[in-house]
Amino acid sequence: MSLPITAARVWLTRGTAPFRFTPDYDHPLSLEGADPLGLYVHIPFCHTLCSFCPYCKVPYEEELARAYVEGLLQEIHLVGRTWTGRRQATSLYFGGGSPALLSHRLGKIVRALEEHFIITDGIGVELHPRDVTVDTLSRLKEAGVSRVCVGLQSFQPLPLQSLGRERPDPGVLGQALAAVPFDTVSADFIFALPGQTFDHLRRDILLAEEMGANHLAFYPFIDFSFTPGPNQGLSGREKWALLKELTAFLRERGYTRDSIWTFARTPGKGYSSMTRTNYLGFGCSAASLLKGQFKVNTFSIPAYLERISQQKLPTALTCRFTQRQRMVYDLFWRAYTTRISPGEFEACFGRSLDGAYGLELRAARLLGWMRREGEDWVLTDRGAFRFHLFEGHYTLAYIDRMWSLMGREAFPQGMDL
Ligand SMILES: C[S@@+](CC[C@H](N)C(=O)[O-])C[C@H]1O[C@@H](n2cnc3c(N)ncnc32)[C@H](O)[C@@H]1O
Ligand code: SF4
Repeated sequence: MSLPITAARVWLTRGTAPFRFTPDYDHPLSLEGADPLGLYVHIPFCHTLCSFCPYCKVPYEEELARAYVEGLLQEIHLVGRTWTGRRQATSLYFGGGSPALLSHRLGKIVRALEEHFIITDGIGVELHPRDVTVDTLSRLKEAGVSRVCVGLQSFQPLPLQSLGRERPDPGVLGQALAAVPFDTVSADFIFALPGQTFDHLRRDILLAEEMGANHLAFYPFIDFSFTPGPNQGLSGREKWALLKELTAFLRERGYTRDSIWTFARTPGKGYSSMTRTNYLGFGCSAASLLKGQFKVNTFSIPAYLERISQQKLPTALTCRFTQRQRMVYDLFWRAYTTRISPGEFEACFGRSLDGAYGLELRAARLLGWMRREGEDWVLTDRGAFRFHLFEGHYTLAYIDRMWSLMGREAFPQGMDL
């Protein structure tokens, strides 16, 4: 385990207790205090598998995909029938894998969710560039999708070569997106790939704009221990220089930063799958973050289907938070949005942000990582870069360890993080 991450956890949670994951789970799940609530559905199928990708996915097979959707519908009803009426949910996000491989079945999944939830802020889907066709986009729109994000990774041959991905054709993508428009079109790039320069990123941004994107995401490249390649991206110094140039260029072009890695061209068209304070996830590998716990479903599709056939939830691991652990988790994701509101923190935890973390926030201001904007604490560019670095360590210390275990064992005995 990374020493800086352990030290940060002990300091911020004011205790030595690790995040303890156990194999037990709650059914019914308590959604008390889980407001606002986001929804996530995982579709673990891809055309082909990429060597750099850590997500839970298998090559697409028609029979398996059909059985998986039936399992998903049952999981949604198993959870949703534990309350009467329909609960308010902000957004619904389909991630993967490549969810559009099931574009003809997404409507059915949306309708099952709408039996139990009122979705107020739209439906988003992750797309592989191969899925950006008029037919597929039309089916997604019919299912209620209003936001798409296209996993371009890059348009430039050198960074693409390190990923082993084909170059997406911006003209072809742009034509399909113009024929079937969406409120938000997000272009997903990977940042700090081996050999990537500012000039690559600048050209990528111009091509994404031509393609019709009004939102851009730059996910920092993470070299997961259980994926074959590529190895290592840029050094910390190179990343800082690249991020500074990138941020300045985007500001000049009128973008606003709406999270650490994402920039919106049109205000209010923000898009993110990960900044919900509470969310419920369905499907294999899907996580749920609720007021008192974080839980993760099994990564094995056969094990997922078997549990569901027994009318049981496919939860593999549950972490029941201490209040301090929950506060830290919450602050981490609020900081990811670049803005922490003391009012929201207090409404969530019944105690003032200043009382809980005033010392740390003032220290971050002295270091030039945060500033005050009215009541809110806002990350500066320097603070956003620090978060980038910290997030890289966190991903390797927590997510890499958990996902590599979950990839090996359908229902692990437990783990401490
Ligand atoms: C599930 S994929 C998106 C949809 C689609 N399957 C595709 O590949 O275009 C999610 C996104 O995560 C990002 N990603 C995947 N592996 C990554 C890694 N090792 N480091 C950083 N970002 C990664 C990529 O930008 C990818 O588009
Ligand atoms: S990057 Fe996308 S297409 Fe490639 S394996 Fe991951 S989910 Fe599948």
